[in-house]
Amino acid sequence: TEPLRIGIAGLGTVGAAVAARLITTRADFTLRAGRDLVLAGVAARDRSRDRGFDLAGIAWFEDPVALASSTDIDIFIELIGGDEGAARAAVEAALQTGKSVVTANKALLAKHGAALSALAEKKGVALAFEASAAGGIPIVKVLREAMSGNRLSRVYGIMNGTCNYILTRMEKEKLSFEECLADAQRLGYAEADPTFDIGGFDTAHKLAILTSLAFGTEIDAEAVYVEGIGSLTLLDLAMADELGYRIKLLGVATRTQSGIEQRVHPTMVPKSSAIARVKGVTNAVALDGDMVGEITLVGPGAGGNATASAVLADIVDVARGVSRPPFGIATEHLVPASRAPMTLHAGGYYIRLM
Ligand code: HSE
Repeated sequence: TEPLRIGIAGLGTVGAAVAARLITTRADFTLRAGRDLVLAGVAARDRSRDRGFDLAGIAWFEDPVALASSTDIDIFIELIGGDEGAARAAVEAALQTGKSVVTANKALLAKHGAALSALAEKKGVALAFEASAAGGIPIVKVLREAMSGNRLSRVYGIMNGTCNYILTRMEKEKLSFEECLADAQRLGYAEADPTFDIGGFDTAHKLAILTSLAFGTEIDAEAVYVEGIGSLTLLDLAMADELGYRIKLLGVATRTQSGIEQRVHPTMVPKSSAIARVKGVTNAVALDGDMVGEITLVGPGAGGNATASAVLADIVDVARGVSRPPFGIATEHLVPASRAPMTLHAGGYYIRLM
């Protein structure tokens, strides 16, 4: 079998981890994928930066679209980020030129997932995005492959590592919001613009992707009711604690009588619940299926290696020819969610209950 020639655009925390892994454990991947996986090209802005691996023998591109369109690669890995600009143009160029795409870009999929998915299907190539939701937790594959026998009633969880990291440290160490955010940025968990994390938008993007897979809806992050954690104070956390709760930023998609409702907001969860015990950068996603009951997956939601783990799995899938329609046929409707069922006043802030 021919080798699979890989092109990676974006050598930040995740891109560098994927590249390093492909280079250092190439023989393992050859066995798993049934063919040689070769890192043939990369695109990034700054060539001189030390990323911990040797670029010798790998074609360097400054323009991600040029890499995506190149005949020297067979599969394009988009790790640039952002819902427009270079990321979108490069993904479209790769699909147009008949290449499968692997992406971790939740903002892009939340906005253009339906159109990109239609393009991938038209071209007969894969669009794989395990890394786009909940980082290292293999939730996309679970929803798409393992839950098909169920009718789901709810999908919810902690889908932003930065927010959970901030809330955990504020609660435990009584540190200020700003201090915790600065550490999350330093550790490479936060988005380039951390407003996406703390404003709840990153959670909304991931929720929109998971909702689509779980319920067969269109992908629509605009239909998500969103409140972030920006106005939470130590007093809010202390009051919740007094009442027997912890505050978590949850994304929740629920089947209602009129359709599927999506919301993101700080939520008071009983301290005894599994979700309350999820600490730090860890994510957790719970699913309610009518056949299987509730399943909760817990694992690292951000960070280079954890997210790279999901990207690498998609690359191996594509190398083996495993391809599924990116999103299912829309069978359910989304309804706008304006507010959560109940609120409680803790400190200066109204916190929703589930
Ligand atoms: N900024 C995101 C987070 C990265 O903190 O969860 C993973 O999508």
